[in-house]
Amino acid sequence: MKTLVLVAITSTVFASPIPPSKFYSHADASTFPGDAFLRALASASAPTFAGKIPLPATSTTARRHLAEFRTATLALNITHPVRFLDESRQFQYPAFNNMQCELEKDGNGVLPFATDTTLGLYFEGLFQMIPIWTKDEIKLSRFDLFHAHLFANPRTKTAGLVFHAKEYPADDADTFPFNLGFCQLGSNLTFVDKVMRRRNIVWTIDAKDRTSLWWIDMGIKTGDQAVDEVTGGAPFYTLYEDSLGHVVADFYYLEGLSLGVSLY
Ligand SMILES: *[C@@H]1O[C@H](CO)[C@@H](O)[C@H](O)[C@H]1NC(C)=O
Ligand SMILES: *[C@@H]1O[C@H](CO)[C@@H](O)[C@H](O)[C@H]1NC(C)=O
Repeated sequence: MKTLVLVAITSTVFASPIPPSKFYSHADASTFPGDAFLRALASASAPTFAGKIPLPATSTTARRHLAEFRTATLALNITHPVRFLDESRQFQYPAFNNMQCELEKDGNGVLPFATDTTLGLYFEGLFQMIPIWTKDEIKLSRFDLFHAHLFANPRTKTAGLVFHAKEYPADDADTFPFNLGFCQLGSNLTFVDKVMRRRNIVWTIDAKDRTSLWWIDMGIKTGDQAVDEVTGGAPFYTLYEDSLGHVVADFYYLEGLSLGVSLY
């Protein structure tokens, strides 16, 4: 076991884009501001600040790979040995506005999931469900929903995704006077406060490998300070992935393209 771990660490240092400081052991005891928030989502009583989006039944194969994926995410070990991602099929996400707007975080290209894991299709399915469940309040587009952040929460042994919709509302002197850079140019998304409040969707796989999907309303406070701490306010209403755990990767998805993963 010791040798195995050592080999993995050595190959991480030399070959992986994850710097050693980002490497944590299984016994990671870090706490995060979002620990209570995640516990509230997982508790038996329905959370007031989130609506549950029912997930379709998952195939046995996908369930098995999801369980392995959770373990690997918590070990921050989804790269080496390459088990989940297919390095031979690296590709670029499209850029816009004379290439000045790059959607992917570092322009180094993204990796699809290895086909045999079926996880690419699984996560694409989540992106596709969101517009349906939100009755088009959220749409797949480069201004609205096109990405999610993968986090690992050691205390609850939960891995999860925060989907950020409404990423680039149009700059508007009255309703949204904020310059968000090149990716905002040409935005056809009008800022509406009560829609913006519900721009965060959270998917989790918990310690028992149960999966769930939640539509968060950042406007609802629970009165429990430990929970409310992470639900930020107007006008951005961002649920920050790094408050929920170690940030491991970003997922990108636009209709017509494969889901691509960019590691931290
Ligand atoms: C990383 O994952 C591989 C299996 O894919 C495993 O053999 C190895 O022990 C893991 N390393 C750590 C540090 O968890
Ligand atoms: C808004 O822009 C996106 C991205 O270009 C496009 O897919 C969508 O159809 C547009 N929506 C409307 C209502 O024009």
